[in-house]
Amino acid sequence: MEGIKQKIENLRSEIRRHNHYYFVLDQPQISDQEYDQLMQQLIKLEEEYPELVTPNSPTQRVGGEAIDQFKKVEHQIPLLSLAKSFSEQELYDFDQRVQKIIGEKVKYVVELKIDGLSTSLLYEEGRLVQAATRGNGIIGEDITHNIRTIKSIPLNLDSQLDLEVRGEVFIPKDRFLKLNQWRKKEELGTFANPRNAAAGSVRQLDPKVAARRPLDIFIYDSTYIEGQQFKTHSERLDYLEELGFKINPARQVCSEIEEVIEYCQKWTTKREELNYEIDGIVIKVNQLSLREQLGATAKHPRWAMAYKFPAQQQETEVKGIEVTVGRTGALTPTAVLEPVLLDGSEVSRATLHNQDYIEEKDVRIGDRVIIEKSGDIIPQVVEVLVKERNGQQESYHLPQSCPICQGEISKVGAEHRCINNNCPSRTEEKIKHFAKRGAMNIEGLGESLVKKLLENGLIADLADLYYLHQKELVELERMGQKSSQNLLDAIEKSKDNSLARLLFGLGIHHVGSEVARNLAENFSDLDEIMEATKKELMAIDGVGPKIAQSIVTYFSQQESLEIIKKLRQAGVNLESRQAEQDDLLEEKKFVLTGKLADFTRSEAKGVITELGGKVTSSVSGQTDYLVVGDNPGSKYQQAQDLGVEILSEEEFKEIIED
Ligand code: IVH
Repeated sequence: MEGIKQKIENLRSEIRRHNHYYFVLDQPQISDQEYDQLMQQLIKLEEEYPELVTPNSPTQRVGGEAIDQFKKVEHQIPLLSLAKSFSEQELYDFDQRVQKIIGEKVKYVVELKIDGLSTSLLYEEGRLVQAATRGNGIIGEDITHNIRTIKSIPLNLDSQLDLEVRGEVFIPKDRFLKLNQWRKKEELGTFANPRNAAAGSVRQLDPKVAARRPLDIFIYDSTYIEGQQFKTHSERLDYLEELGFKINPARQVCSEIEEVIEYCQKWTTKREELNYEIDGIVIKVNQLSLREQLGATAKHPRWAMAYKFPAQQQETEVKGIEVTVGRTGALTPTAVLEPVLLDGSEVSRATLHNQDYIEEKDVRIGDRVIIEKSGDIIPQVVEVLVKERNGQQESYHLPQSCPICQGEISKVGAEHRCINNNCPSRTEEKIKHFAKRGAMNIEGLGESLVKKLLENGLIADLADLYYLHQKELVELERMGQKSSQNLLDAIEKSKDNSLARLLFGLGIHHVGSEVARNLAENFSDLDEIMEATKKELMAIDGVGPKIAQSIVTYFSQQESLEIIKKLRQAGVNLESRQAEQDDLLEEKKFVLTGKLADFTRSEAKGVITELGGKVTSSVSGQTDYLVVGDNPGSKYQQAQDLGVEILSEEEFKEIIED
């Protein structure tokens, strides 16, 4: 038995060594076939002697079953984010600030800023025991089952050390393109960019799925390594590399800020050559004792800085201009572009906002244009290359009638609007709005399902949702018994929503969630609101002449009355129930900090006020809850000091979705 045990251990360490050569150093020492043979030998022996299988054996990377949900993990040392700079001047300023505190010139380490997901890995006695997402920096999620599948991460170290390392999980560009090609073929929907693909992969419940995704990692930091004291960050990285971690080779120590700037300039163009996405450069003070001296603000360490590359621009061609019609009837022109890769995502559309914008920029069909992502999200046309015109380009004017329903268009300010309330595009957008979280919150009724229901003639307006039958739903593509029953349950549940949610959900122009709530609080039911005069409406907080007119107009239209009638008949609540009015959060005072993943600030605020809570900007003894998103500010510490209850985004969602 001892002999077998030894044989198994030898095989494991040989496989680990070759994993390191292959996945970390990118220098395979044996052929794939030879590697497979070693692996097969180990699998066979472990099958024969199951009692000798250890959790971190190379055969056990995809170990165990899928999990039900992610466990929360509290980071012992918070994962801070980095302050950002966008120009050379800001880097000089950073250097000056550092020198002022330290009193002399300091050395920096510069590294590539990998565009992926930060992860913390904990090792105990040399064994990987936990991997967690960054989460909000303080509380993350346990993703050990997925991270174990990344072959460049050692499951066992040669030394039996306790340590924590941090790194960025990513998907290489070439593997990402292949993954998307395959998903397209399988009709699975493609990922927008490698980062999203990596994020989706580490958040899988089933490690078998993650194991099929081409994830990789670069380790960029460590918070502690048992028994080791280092003078500098660069020495620590070298040591981690010796331990078998994958460290990015492009790191460099700089003695002058000018060298740092040169490095940033070099990689601004050279980044294209890399097989992974980077979104900037990280500059870190190298000497670790100086880091302590410099300390951190609530969000960022003072010893580091991210230099963000200028927004990438691309030249492309405007193939055409398409118009979409929103819920309120607004016509939005969009340039259809020859697809190009911009910051790692394929871009084939750019917003043109409205007719004035098109004229101001003089965008014509057939033009060569420069596009850029604004705020990293929606691509914009920043410049038209007028010199490249050959006379074939065509000017564009928004249509005289609605492109969807051919209805009449009216111009309000810079906006052209389809005034047909029954325009199919407006109807679709209205239903989507009705179902969304801040409104009637009908779970499972997303964009594509709304489209399908309309296309199949199962609904014609939002009130028809309450007249759907299971037998017609199951006929829809990808709709089984279970999902159709879930949908019907969610629709049924929404009948009991507050009047405020309904009013907001109706999508009356200018009636946001706060106005809807004020209306519901001041009238006893929908009938009273429908009968109210403009003057009576204007007596309500937040309702001016424009909103009052919009409400009066809405309830004077035949289509609206039809919808209300159907909602009433279906048993949808139209009463303002002061006492039970979603008073879940009645008078509760909330403060928000950090970036939430699923809500914008105003959405979160809308939901809270809709449920009777209040949102204030600073934490005090009166605050009931602090909702903590990504990168929380100093409010987090204040709330802790004052003993204010702290909610993660998940906990906040549990409260509001009760
Ligand atoms: S150091 C105190 N080094 O960028 C922060 N971060 O905004 C220490 N990142 O959350 C971070 N590459 O996910 C560091 N070479 C690198 C990095 C890197 C990517 C990410 C990381 C972090 C974010 C900071």
